[in-house]
Amino acid sequence: MLPIQAVSWSPDRSALCIIDQRLLPGAEIVRELRALDDVIEAIRTLSVRGAPAIGVAAAIGLAVALEAAATSDAHRRVLLPEFAARLVASRPTAVNLAWAVNRMLARAATVGDGPLLAALRDEADAILTEDIAMCDAIGGHGMALIPEDACVLTHCNAGALATAGIGTALAPVYAAHAAGRRVHVYADETRPLRQGARLTAWELHRAGIRVTVLPDGAAASLLRSGAIDLVIVGADRIAANGDFANKIGTYSVALAAHTHRVPFYVAAPWSTIDPDTPIGAAIEIEHRDATELGELPAGVSAWNPAFDVTPHSLVTGYITDRGVMHPPFTSPAFL
Ligand code: MRU
Repeated sequence: MLPIQAVSWSPDRSALCIIDQRLLPGAEIVRELRALDDVIEAIRTLSVRGAPAIGVAAAIGLAVALEAAATSDAHRRVLLPEFAARLVASRPTAVNLAWAVNRMLARAATVGDGPLLAALRDEADAILTEDIAMCDAIGGHGMALIPEDACVLTHCNAGALATAGIGTALAPVYAAHAAGRRVHVYADETRPLRQGARLTAWELHRAGIRVTVLPDGAAASLLRSGAIDLVIVGADRIAANGDFANKIGTYSVALAAHTHRVPFYVAAPWSTIDPDTPIGAAIEIEHRDATELGELPAGVSAWNPAFDVTPHSLVTGYITDRGVMHPPFTSPAFL
């Protein structure tokens, strides 16, 4: 039983359903999206967010938007490359988005015009189902790292709201909780959009898991205090050498964890590993609007990167659906 369905098909399978995460925790509103522009707007505005969730949303969104935009599969075939390119361009950092859209394109290439829509729906279904299974597997592998009465620090939201399943960084927490272990999660507030305070706290509290929110700037002091057993964060893209992009502020947490000798884990499905990106410096970082920082004095500019890159040397291990791994992620065994 999933704690939350952040991204799914509508019951009649004509629309993409998302929980509008801009409105949480105040209101839990499910939106049904059919038009490409609406799917792109939802991804850009972070109504749907988190690397695996935007991959699943793009896959279902591509299928439903093509269905709504044309009456013949021949016409849909013509629209497909443009729709796919626009979806991929909607957010640049999380590789799961391009990964999911490329899977849809590859599947489309295997069929003729007649069965195009059926094939795209089937592939989107597979991406959704696999994401749920990958989250469960991450939980299964990661729960061994969580002792009874563990205190876990996390950054941003890499939970059920960020995936189709039980999350990535929070999957081991959910699995340990389901096994009857007491776990206490400390959630960084995650400036500027407060995914930790609004989303991680909301979903954990709802699941009956103890959660304490702290300002981002307090994480280093908390790590120095000895209260934290381990840090688990998600990732938007993991380079072949293990450097990874995640929500801005992750790098600072990793540095502090390293200084205070607290184990620091990255949890991610295989779809987040990008063997074509050799090192973290090659990852494109999304920069967002200054308005996200709140009111600034007139004439003052802002630097607002949505993500940062943490070097692999600060990572204790990568909790994936295939087990706890270590880079490089280039050998045939990993691909
Ligand atoms: O900008 P967001 O909210 O989409 O950023 C999300 C994150 O940084 C998550 O930690 C990451 O996507 C992993 S989600 C399982």
